[in-house]
Amino acid sequence: MDVAGKVAVVTGSGNGIGEAIAKRLAAEGASVVVTDIERDNVTRVANEIGTVGLEADVTKEDEVKAVARLARETYGRIDIWHSNAGLAGPRQPDSLQDDDLWNGMWRLHVLAHLYAAREVLPEMVARGDGYLLQTASSVALATQPEKVGYAVTKHAALAFSEWLAVRYRPRGVKVSCFCPGPMLTRMLLSNGFAADDPAISGALTPEQVADLVVRALADERFLILTQPDDVRALVGKGTDYDAWVDDYSRLLSTSSVGAAGAADAQESRPSSTA
Ligand SMILES: NC(=O)c1ccc[n+]([C@@H]2O[C@H](COP(=O)([O-])OP(=O)(O)OC[C@H]3O[C@@H](n4cnc5c(N)ncnc54)[C@H](O)[C@@H]3O)[C@@H](O)[C@H]2O)c1
Repeated sequence: MDVAGKVAVVTGSGNGIGEAIAKRLAAEGASVVVTDIERDNVTRVANEIGTVGLEADVTKEDEVKAVARLARETYGRIDIWHSNAGLAGPRQPDSLQDDDLWNGMWRLHVLAHLYAAREVLPEMVARGDGYLLQTASSVALATQPEKVGYAVTKHAALAFSEWLAVRYRPRGVKVSCFCPGPMLTRMLLSNGFAADDPAISGALTPEQVADLVVRALADERFLILTQPDDVRALVGKGTDYDAWVDDYSRLLSTSSVGAAGAADAQESRPSSTA
């Protein structure tokens, strides 16, 4: 999709990659609505772009609807909805007991995408055009041993994107799932990493990520990766799932994955996945 002249909503655009993508879309000629749970950052980013914004918690359907209403009242329609807001949460390797964590992750990484889809799909299907872009994570292709709720709900986000693509592409709605590896945002850096820490070498800046995502939108590619090698996890599972599990477990028991624990995608990768 050529984003020039399109109307885009980007959730979680008060910071990080959401902010960078919102700014990049605006620079490419799209009209962008900024939304985030952090009011001051919504105001800041909306002012910097010269557009409207709304503080909203995307885990609440009425607040998602309010964002859509603002977009339609201001710009007449919605062409692109980027469900991007997310939260890695604290490292909790054994958090099977924590219902609040599970519910919160489920609402943010899955239900927020559902609320957006059911809000905008009718108008997109009616026009035979539109774009649903969802941020999941490379964790959705492998796993994240230290954040079970995050890892599992990001898998579910990818599964929902797949379903949307299969169901709605034939009706003209484009769907992409963005599965990035580590990116130099607050999410990563607040876990105690300096931007030049070798442990996160290869992490992209938000601006690099925004370039990559806007190029992928032009190509209308389903799976958007920041590190092409991340697809090895899928290949490994598809080739020999048991070997993948064994390799991963071995690696966990012998490596410093536990100590590394970057925000999100610092999962180690078994060497013999392909
Ligand atoms: N940074 C990484 O290494 C990395 C890697 C893979 C995937 N991701 C994913 O990328 C997305 C963006 O993360 P980021 O790295 O830019 O982090 P970030 O913390 O800079 O941005 C996330 C934004 O989401 C907002 N948010 C959180 N909960 C919200 C809610 N309930 N309603 C509305 N907004 C809410 C936050 O206020 C924040 O502005 C997330 O979905 C994250 O899971 C990040």
